[in-house]
Amino acid sequence: MPVDLTKVLKLAEDAAREAGDLMMKSFRSDFQVSKKGRFDLVTEVDLACEKLLRDRISTAFPEHKIVGEEGEATGGGDLVWYLDPIDGTVNFAHGHQYFCVSVGFFNGNEGLVGVIHAPALGQTWTAAKGMGAFRDGKKCHVSKHATLEESLCGTGFPSGEKARSNYYPDELSAFMQNAQGIRRCGSAAIDLALVSDGTYELYWERGLKPWDISAGCVLVSEAGGRLSCGDGRPFDVLSDSIIASNGLVHAAATEIICSSKTS
Ligand code: IPD
Ligand code: CA
Repeated sequence: MPVDLTKVLKLAEDAAREAGDLMMKSFRSDFQVSKKGRFDLVTEVDLACEKLLRDRISTAFPEHKIVGEEGEATGGGDLVWYLDPIDGTVNFAHGHQYFCVSVGFFNGNEGLVGVIHAPALGQTWTAAKGMGAFRDGKKCHVSKHATLEESLCGTGFPSGEKARSNYYPDELSAFMQNAQGIRRCGSAAIDLALVSDGTYELYWERGLKPWDISAGCVLVSEAGGRLSCGDGRPFDVLSDSIIASNGLVHAAATEIICSSKTS
């Protein structure tokens, strides 16, 4: 049976906004924080938001698979919801405003719907296949800057991947010499949303999970951008690395990323 993307998008946006309201009730208050790894945090708010998202989705679409950051996968088949209840948990735990809820809906490797809601920033990005990408209800597009020299580039330093920190000095140095600016906001999903609305020309990162990138990848595609794995291979939502761009700087960025030291 074909999926009604308008219905999926509405459910995703409503649920994301509801989760965002829940986050804001606890933001900068005394909530419980636990460690999943040495630097990897989960708060009681992450858990409550994931539960809310799972409840809303499984009630509306009981036949779909759900893969979330904070729980076991449920269901089966090719239609999958990827949920990051709080992308930017470390920011959230420190009272930093760059965090969001990220809801992606895929058929296999094909991105169908993406919603990223950043409640403390008061911004929401939405997209559905063939319908375009929107920031706060207004259609958005990737930027038209064609060189790295004109590019603002986002990246991230994976929390659970300190072992790979030696990847970074080389490529950061190359980007510092070639790009207008580099930013690291602490939420992969917001980084991708910022490529989709033309704020960034480029975003790249390693050590990612599908719930970090799925929604943002739908946004970037629908906004006219380009996606690939971090080693230049074609986009794969299950790959742990990504290069997302406005298309125009993709080749130049990929060359730097792929020729930098990676061990
Ligand atoms: C993290 C954020 C961060 C990225 C990490 C992710 P989390 O997600 O997206 O920007 O650098 O790789 O794990 O843990 O805050 O949901
Ligand atoms: Ca995440």
